[in-house]
Amino acid sequence: MMKILSQRAALLKPSATLAISAKEKELRSQGVDVVGFGAGEPDFPTPAWIREAAKKSLDRGETFYTPVGGSLDLKKAVCRRFVEDYGLEYQPGEIVVSCGAKHSLYNIFQATIDQGDEVLVFAPYWVSYPEMIALSGGSPIIVPTREEDGFVPDPAVVESLITSRTTAMLLNSPSNPSGVSYPQDVLVKLAELADKHDLLVISDEIYDKLLYDNHSFTPFATLPGAKNRTVTVNGVSKTYAMTGLRIGYLACPRPELVKAATDIQSQSTSNPSNPAQAAAVEALNGPQDGVLQMRDIFERRRNLMMDEIAKIPGLRATRPDGAFYVFLNISQFVGKGGIADSTGFAQYLLDRYAVAAVPGGPFGSEDHIRLSFATSEECILKGMDRIRKACAELG
Ligand SMILES: Cc1ncc(COP(=O)(O)O)c(C=O)c1O
Repeated sequence: MMKILSQRAALLKPSATLAISAKEKELRSQGVDVVGFGAGEPDFPTPAWIREAAKKSLDRGETFYTPVGGSLDLKKAVCRRFVEDYGLEYQPGEIVVSCGAKHSLYNIFQATIDQGDEVLVFAPYWVSYPEMIALSGGSPIIVPTREEDGFVPDPAVVESLITSRTTAMLLNSPSNPSGVSYPQDVLVKLAELADKHDLLVISDEIYDKLLYDNHSFTPFATLPGAKNRTVTVNGVSKTYAMTGLRIGYLACPRPELVKAATDIQSQSTSNPSNPAQAAAVEALNGPQDGVLQMRDIFERRRNLMMDEIAKIPGLRATRPDGAFYVFLNISQFVGKGGIADSTGFAQYLLDRYAVAAVPGGPFGSEDHIRLSFATSEECILKGMDRIRKACAELG
């Protein structure tokens, strides 16, 4: 029989979040009034002046290749944000720009993981982490956290999972899907552990600007002794509502890692889209007050969603510190009405109540579903009302 698929491809799970978005779009195209809590992207349009920058770039004829790891202007703009926002100094030569933060992560895993290497991943985790690590030949080692602790990891548990094969620790604070932002003392302990066991730290800081309740953000690289072992990942997707433009980046003071990530990119995608880079330059260099306005709107929506959840018997959720997701505990309803797991619950919501949410299983918990509040207050009220009815029906 003709061999078509590699074992790698055969074992790969498609992204659960993108699958729900596709189903949601399909139902909507059939005229169904779906409330979408599945989105992993801001619902705001990309600011006009950022779109204008992309158009001007095209009109200047910037339709050719740029350097593989991004234009010098963009690397300088990235460095500017690090230093102005966090006092964190990077040189343009320490930045690699890719087609989204997801691509940056992919390059990092390809550049740093050998067969059998173990990478610590904190639960609940973003769906793509274990798959991307496995694609690189590594083993994701899941660090459990407790909902009672607000999903904050216990450093003693982290240390108990470190073996001679552990090479890296992957962090995502504020987190997708729980919204937890790790407290400073925990971050310091994680930095000490990384130092003690000589681990690379990959810190996915894509939600750094979406923090609520006056929480302030601590980049991992600013912790004592951490910068030289940290690869920081970020991008413009969430902060500036630019998901479709596909610009993300890594920052790392290790020349060998920067070179390897660039070389991998040179043999796969080459540079990210040239006009998208021009738009990202404007986003990073331009006024930042729009980011604060967007954050304030998200904060109000989070409050509204949490208030509505509190009114529904049987549901509970940890209040997210950041990002735009609520990781809703639905365990009371598993086992009822033929619902076997988080996928069953999400399917029931979509089929019976036209509410799209992402099952928690692919994030590491069958007791949860992920609701995105990157949608209007009106939709939040409508969707939560439907969820209330759905839960009441299950009893
Ligand atoms: C935790 C996390 N990291 C990275 C990304 C990828 O962002 P980008 O659109 O820049 O690839 C996402 C997007 O959902 C995310 O939630």
